[in-house]
Amino acid sequence: MENKRRSFIKKLGIAGATAAILPTAFAGEAKNTSFLIRNLSKPGNDPIRIALIGAGGMGVADANTALQHENVHLVAVCDLYDGRLQDAKNRWGSDIFTTKDYTQVLDRKDVDAVIIGTPDHWHKKISVDALKAGKHVYCEKPLVHSVEEGQEVIKAWERSGKVFMVGSQGMSSLGNEKARELLASGAIGDINYAEGFWARNSPIGAWQYPIPADASPQTVDWKRFIEPTTKRPFDKERFFRWRNYTDYGTGMSGDLFVHLFSSLHFITNSLGPNKIAAMGGLRFWEDGREVPDVLIGMFDYPDSEQHPGFNLSLRCNFVDGTSGSTFLKIVGNKGSMDIGWNDVLLKQNDAPEMEDPFMKEKAAEAQTSQSDRKQILPPNETHFKAEKGYKGAHYDHFANFFHAIRTGGTVGQDPVFGFRAAAPALLCNDSYRENKFIQWDPVKMRRI
Ligand SMILES: NC(=O)c1ccc[n+]([C@@H]2O[C@H](COP(=O)([O-])OP(=O)(O)OC[C@H]3O[C@@H](n4cnc5c(N)ncnc54)[C@H](O)[C@@H]3O)[C@@H](O)[C@H]2O)c1
Repeated sequence: MENKRRSFIKKLGIAGATAAILPTAFAGEAKNTSFLIRNLSKPGNDPIRIALIGAGGMGVADANTALQHENVHLVAVCDLYDGRLQDAKNRWGSDIFTTKDYTQVLDRKDVDAVIIGTPDHWHKKISVDALKAGKHVYCEKPLVHSVEEGQEVIKAWERSGKVFMVGSQGMSSLGNEKARELLASGAIGDINYAEGFWARNSPIGAWQYPIPADASPQTVDWKRFIEPTTKRPFDKERFFRWRNYTDYGTGMSGDLFVHLFSSLHFITNSLGPNKIAAMGGLRFWEDGREVPDVLIGMFDYPDSEQHPGFNLSLRCNFVDGTSGSTFLKIVGNKGSMDIGWNDVLLKQNDAPEMEDPFMKEKAAEAQTSQSDRKQILPPNETHFKAEKGYKGAHYDHFANFFHAIRTGGTVGQDPVFGFRAAAPALLCNDSYRENKFIQWDPVKMRRI
């Protein structure tokens, strides 16, 4: 294991990582705070002209974040609903070109890069067409709607020579970078377990979004919306609450678990799990949805060159009246890390608290034979926090995207990485529907 960890550190290029993370932080009290600092090399400043395809909640957030970067300009917006196109003009200026046909955006010579913020069932087709049209692509997660679509995007990207970033922004955060460095340095020993969960308990949290009063076949291009999937008559619930339906969305796992896979794979350098199991049910939100509102996923990560074998447990509850969410916890034999995008709480435990009365009795017996002189205890919690003014993961993710475009470089969350993060999430749905464990080859990226 020790050798494996050393080779992992070498691979990450974190020279002297142990020394780097443990200077004054562990010298004193039981809880320490240390500040994380963003250290991006300064990119060039060539203008980058972007277009947004899919101008709903996330597309607008993406475009606004992109526009915070120097010399980035929005020239076109595509959406299938009139209201969103009008909003785009109100928000970004009436000279923005708007259309319901994304191919008109791809035909424009003045567009260098597109942001794809459509529902999941359109990600593959628009990504492939955009790459063929010579555009750089920022595509929202999950990369694809089904595992079968993954290779086509990867091949199109490899042929294109363009930068392609998938939109799980957490991975570009200071918090994720620190966790990766801490794990490689041995701060929690060898990973053996990880977990994450989301607790929601509101209609919006459970995807019951408001439907505009003017939603109709006149204001919505329904024909285009269903083009890649089952033909049906116009249905405004399906259009505005697409996450609830399997033709368009990818359920709780495709929507939320996928973020965790991106972060976890980045922090551990993992290629992914080889065994996947999911259970769940529709417990409350019986509004015609086709996906569960409580979902648990379990994953086996095999012993590999990158890390020792470990298990991952993920859950999501949209009727959760008890607890808050935990984004990502990674547990090793010497401690654990609670990992956020802006912070990491490192806990280093010599031995976990014992609840078991028999074990407590045995421990007390062992104590009596030792000297009762008190000892100096090492600190067991260190809180790494982003400095005040940190612009956050989303900003950093776009910084990495634009940096790669301007320098001819690469990004971490490319289609291969993005597919390896999306696949176990999508296979959760398969496991739930097929009622069985799913075997996945994370190296060759195919279901066994
Ligand atoms: N990275 C994140 O944190 C994050 C957060 C939320 C959503 N997302 C992702 O962003 C995507 C969009 O989610 P959302 O919540 O913004 O949904 P949304 O319904 O608010 O917006 C989707 C928009 O896409 C438009 N659209 C649909 N098909 C289109 C097409 N063929 N061409 C052009 N426009 C089309 C719709 O009219 C709608 O306005 C999803 O893939 C989702 O998983 C990512």
